Amino acid sequence: MSRSSIEAEIAVYAALEVRDPARMGPNWVPLLEQVPLFAGLSARHLRRLAALARSKRFADGTTVVRAGDPGNSFYVILEGSARVVPPGGRPIRLRAGDFFGEMALLDGAPRSADVTATEELLTMTIGRSAFTKLLRDEPQIAHGIMRTLAERLREAQRSL
Ligand code: CMP
Repeated sequence: MSRSSIEAEIAVYAALEVRDPARMGPNWVPLLEQVPLFAGLSARHLRRLAALARSKRFADGTTVVRAGDPGNSFYVILEGSARVVPPGGRPIRLRAGDFFGEMALLDGAPRSADVTATEELLTMTIGRSAFTKLLRDEPQIAHGIMRTLAERLREAQRSL
């Protein structure tokens, strides 16, 4: 990609950010590079990914998603930690680099568990239609999500 087209792309993102300050832009790329789910994506792909997302902060103790609610966003933890409490199941701790909220987007069923911030949380949030587009356009991310789902299923089977 030429230098001028990168500059043009960055100018478009900057304009979008002015309209919606929560919208993520290219300045988030260094943080996104550290997320295992995005490992191996080029800087261009990370900039595209950032343009689909919003940053959102939650205070310690906030329930970010509640079991039984309809789900419209996918979350990647950029800073802080959270606790997943599946109804009747053991709590699971999530840290920076982990994600949650994919299940309700994948199958359309209600949220399967409460997820609560256990420290101040900084998340990247992606809405339903952008999440669907991401899975279609970035097979590496789709594979990473499937791998984590398989690991979580194995872990859940171990604790039965
Ligand atoms: P969703 O059902 O959309 O909302 C609650 C989220 O908690 C769910 O997506 C997963 O991201 C997460 N979650 C549910 N059960 C588990 C589990 N057993 N291990 C890890 N994360 C889970």
